[in-house]
Amino acid sequence: VNQQNRQILLAERPDGPLELRHFRTATAEVGEPGPGQVLCRTVLLSIDPANRAWMQGRTYRSQIASDEVMAGFTLCEVLAGDLPAGTVVACEAGWQEYAILPTTDVQPVTVRGPLTDQLGALGITGLTAYFGLIEVGQPRPGDTVVVSAAAGATGHVVGQLAHLAGCRVVGIAGSADKTRVLTERLGFDAAVSHRSPTLRKDLKAACPGGVDVYFDNVGGPVLEATLSLMNARGRVVCCGAVSQYDTSTPAPGPRGVPGYLVTKRLRMEGILVSDFHDRWPVAEERLAGWLATGQLIALQDVIDGLDNAPMALIGLLKGDNVGKRMVRVGPDPH
Ligand SMILES: NC(=O)c1ccc[n+]([C@@H]2O[C@H](COP(=O)([O-])OP(=O)(O)OC[C@H]3O[C@@H](n4cnc5c(N)ncnc54)[C@H](OP(=O)(O)O)[C@@H]3O)[C@@H](O)[C@H]2O)c1
Repeated sequence: VNQQNRQILLAERPDGPLELRHFRTATAEVGEPGPGQVLCRTVLLSIDPANRAWMQGRTYRSQIASDEVMAGFTLCEVLAGDLPAGTVVACEAGWQEYAILPTTDVQPVTVRGPLTDQLGALGITGLTAYFGLIEVGQPRPGDTVVVSAAAGATGHVVGQLAHLAGCRVVGIAGSADKTRVLTERLGFDAAVSHRSPTLRKDLKAACPGGVDVYFDNVGGPVLEATLSLMNARGRVVCCGAVSQYDTSTPAPGPRGVPGYLVTKRLRMEGILVSDFHDRWPVAEERLAGWLATGQLIALQDVIDGLDNAPMALIGLLKGDNVGKRMVRVGPDPH
């Protein structure tokens, strides 16, 4: 393909909060796919808190090096190579317009509707919500389920699934606009702001019967506050710790471990969505069913243009997004 490939590289690994200066743009030749490869055109680029954590290391994948194309999950259209042109694939093309990838590293996608849903509620974050809540959280009807980053990509699906499971649902989010979306649009029973100086008191008032399941997306002080409100035999689903990603010096804590775990016989368990890979199609089918009936509302936060990806990630870490944040790099395939 005789075309230029616009790319965004990590220019410098950040120590503190991520800034625009940590990125730079570049162009490269697109090239031709060889045997066992496909040439992909990026349609949607997923913007994830994990992108920042990967820069720091200490995660489930190798650290991103300076001067590499910034890593990222994408939905792409196959243009040439080992798969039929026009196939939509989920892959890690990174922050660039085109990528040549091994065919074994791309996953053809069943397109059921808008690709934005496919990347959000039917993609990684929707599946994380599904397996984290249902398999690890094991909610029962009548339980109180609390979720943090509740207006985010994973959180807004967790809350709605908990509601479908017959639970009382309380969201924790970072602004009054977000807490309103949760209670007025998504059917949460209550929502509180983690920026409130009286977070623990607010949460206690919103959960008069205590907390049975806490789906933790943020770690830090919010985890600490919620641990103290857990009921006996409660489950804490450790999904992520976004409050600790945008730094090279994460805070120690939370306090209360192991004390609360012992006295309340809590189960605190991590979830990695990739562990459930074999069962993704079944979960996707169920999520698609709820979307189709309107029992699940998928919120998307789409930013136009690859050049805006750095700003989109910096903003995500500050809580600018409502729903699944993504960057539209190119048009949907015809
Ligand atoms: N384990 C897995 O397999 C897996 C898979 C996908 C994602 N995850 C994890 O799931 C979590 C959510 O990811 P996502 O993709 O759905 O992102 P997201 O929730 O859409 O975006 C991140 C949100 O985090 C909140 N936040 C940022 N700093 C915070 C702080 N100091 N305290 C409290 N909240 C803060 C912001 O919302 P506010 O305005 O509410 O602050 C922001 O909107 C992350 O921890 C991520 O790593 C895990």
